[in-house]
Parts: sequence; structure tokens; C-alpha cells
Amino acid sequence: MNHSEDKQSKLPTTTEKRKNEHIEVCLQEDVQGVGITNGFERYRFIHNALPEIDFEDIQTATTFLSKTMPVPFLISSMTGGTQLAWEINQRIAQAAEERGWAMGLGSMRAALENPEAEFSFKIRKYAPSIPVFANIGAVQFNYGYGVEQCLRAVDMIEADTLVLHLNSMQEVFQPEGDKNFKQLLNKMEKVIHSLPIPVGVKEVGWGISADSAKRLKEIGVQYIDVAGAGGTSWSQVEKYRTKDALYREMAETFAGWGNPTAECVKEIKQQQAELLCIASGGINNGLEAAKAIALGAHMVGYGRSLLQSSVDSVEQLAERLTKIELELKIAMFGVGAADLSELKGTKHLKSI
Ligand SMILES: Cc1cc2nc3c(=O)[nH]c(=O)nc-3n(C[C@H](O)[C@H](O)[C@H](O)COP(=O)(O)O)c2cc1C
Repeated sequence: MNHSEDKQSKLPTTTEKRKNEHIEVCLQEDVQGVGITNGFERYRFIHNALPEIDFEDIQTATTFLSKTMPVPFLISSMTGGTQLAWEINQRIAQAAEERGWAMGLGSMRAALENPEAEFSFKIRKYAPSIPVFANIGAVQFNYGYGVEQCLRAVDMIEADTLVLHLNSMQEVFQPEGDKNFKQLLNKMEKVIHSLPIPVGVKEVGWGISADSAKRLKEIGVQYIDVAGAGGTSWSQVEKYRTKDALYREMAETFAGWGNPTAECVKEIKQQQAELLCIASGGINNGLEAAKAIALGAHMVGYGRSLLQSSVDSVEQLAERLTKIELELKIAMFGVGAADLSELKGTKHLKSI
């Protein structure tokens, strides 16, 4: 892609066009992975008829990167770079601040390429207190990005953390995608050690295996957001964007690809008990979040399941968040867990 050409144009850049198409496709088409689930239906909680706690006393507070949060929840990185994206980000920031959720911004490449797009990420005045994640695709380290771009992204939004996304299977289904994923680990390590804030890594819906998590932990990654399979499938999203019949057919072949979210969390925590793990990917409600926490997740992220409410209004989004929070508390009541530390541990879960 010719970045300098994009910058001078008054027409939407290629990146901006892609960002709006992603939102529209995710709202209008069935982009759920096919023949694959997030894996939480394979567990049920063991009901505790004698919880011996008062529902009103249940505590869901946690800390993330030194910030105290009332709930262990995150709105996953979704968007930025266009007017539509700004409207969505503004609503997400307001609802997340109101409810105390953390917030991810979408890939900030749009603003790094074109300063005129910066406004669409600047949500801090709406979300002064919550943890906010800056976001860059790690593959960009093979296309001219480095520490400087990461620092600019972090400063732009006064981020608490930078999350690098890994999206190899998305790039491969974009005819224009950046497909050189060689030697990223070294480059990520350099960034991690040069930034003044913690750096994490996420996928975008195909999951992070225990082996990949181990390699990432070894270079100093502070947390892993598994962004597993069973929810949004980015090969499906790209299928609806492409005009190329061959790519459409190939995307369908891979509609069930990926490691289910529950499997990622379970295996990472079995092998790296101390690694901070965010469960996300196809999570729809607070009961699934409770299962993720029981399996060892520190926080739980929601992406596309909150997108429509983020388009509708701050009130509708805040209502969705409140419902998820209540569902988590109800699950905790059902097993007799007074706080998140009591919910953790598979003693409450049965595989089915
Ligand atoms: C409209 C949309 C745009 C997204 N853009 C980004 C992005 O820019 N950077 C990123 O790391 N993930 C992005 N994601 C991926 C989500 O953060 C999440 O990992 C993925 O959608 C799986 O979660 P879900 O099944 O809850 O949607 C996007 C998701 C959606 C729905």
C-alpha cells in the first residue's frame, strides 16, 4: 500500500475504507465461525444449594496493571480511524467509564498513517479513569513500524498499556494484506523493553495456544488476551469484503479454524499459572465470563457482541454491561463464591 499517497488524499484512505467496511460487515452479515464454539458449553458449574453468602455482599473487584476496577471486564479493541468509528468509540468510552470497564481501541495504524484520523481515538476525556489499551498489529514491525510508532500511539490516547495484535489468518484472507510474519518475536521484544508501559498481546479470534503464550512470556509480554475462536471469524468478515470468488471460497474452507477460547485459557493456565490471561473471543454473557474466570482468566473481553449496542446509544450499551455484570454475580451466588478469588479454580466446574 502506498501510505504517502493516502495521506495527501482527501478521499478516505484504504485503511479508513477498510475500517468502515469491517464495522458494516460485522453488523450486517453472519460472521460467526462455522462449526466451532467458544468451548464454554463444555463446562457447567456445580450448583451450591447452600451458598452461605448474601448476594448483596458479592464483590467483583479486581486490579489490572495497578488500576482497581469494580469488574473484571474489557470491551475488546474494535475500531477507530473514521467518523463512524469515532461515534462508536465515544459511546464505548462513556459506557465503559460509567460501569468501570476497561476499553480497547482498534488498530491505531489509521491515525499513524494519517494524523487527520487521530480524533477518532481520542477518548480520554470521556474515559479518564479506566484502563485504556492502545493497539497496533505486530506484523507492522515488518513494514516499517517500530518503537517510535508505538510511543506515538500510546501518547496519542494516554494509554495504560499497548496491546499488539496477531492476525496472520486475517491478513492472508485480505488480498492486500501484510503477510510477512517472520522474526516478529525479536522485534516485539525490542518494543516491549523500550516502552514505559506494559505490553500485552492478543489474537483477533483464532486464539493463542499454550506454546505461543510461553514464547510470548519469554520475551516479556505482560498479559495474553487469547481472543479465541467461537465468535467473530475474520476469514468470514474478509469473505464478505472481497470481490474475488477464489478468496471467498477459500475463506469458507477456513470458517471453523482456530483454538476455542475456553481451551486457550485452560491450557495457558495449566502451563503458565502466573501469566495474566484475558479470556475473549465469542463471549456473550456473564455466565461464560464466570466460567472463564473459574478456568483462570484474570479478565474477560467482549467484542462484536457489544458492537450493535455501541452503535445504538450509550444507554443501551451501559444496560448490556450492567446485565453482564449481574450475570457474573448470579453465577458467583450459584456456586457460593463471595469474590473472584473464590470463583477461581476448577473445583466449581464440571466438564460435560
Ligand atoms: C468491528 C471490529 C473491528 C475490530 N478491529 C480490531 C482491531 O483493530 N484490532 C484488534 O486487535 N482487534 C480487532 N477486532 C477483534 C476483536 O478485538 C476481538 O478479538 C475479536 O472480534 C474476537 O472477539 P469477539 O468474538 O468477541 O468479537 C475487531 C473486532 C470487531 C468486531
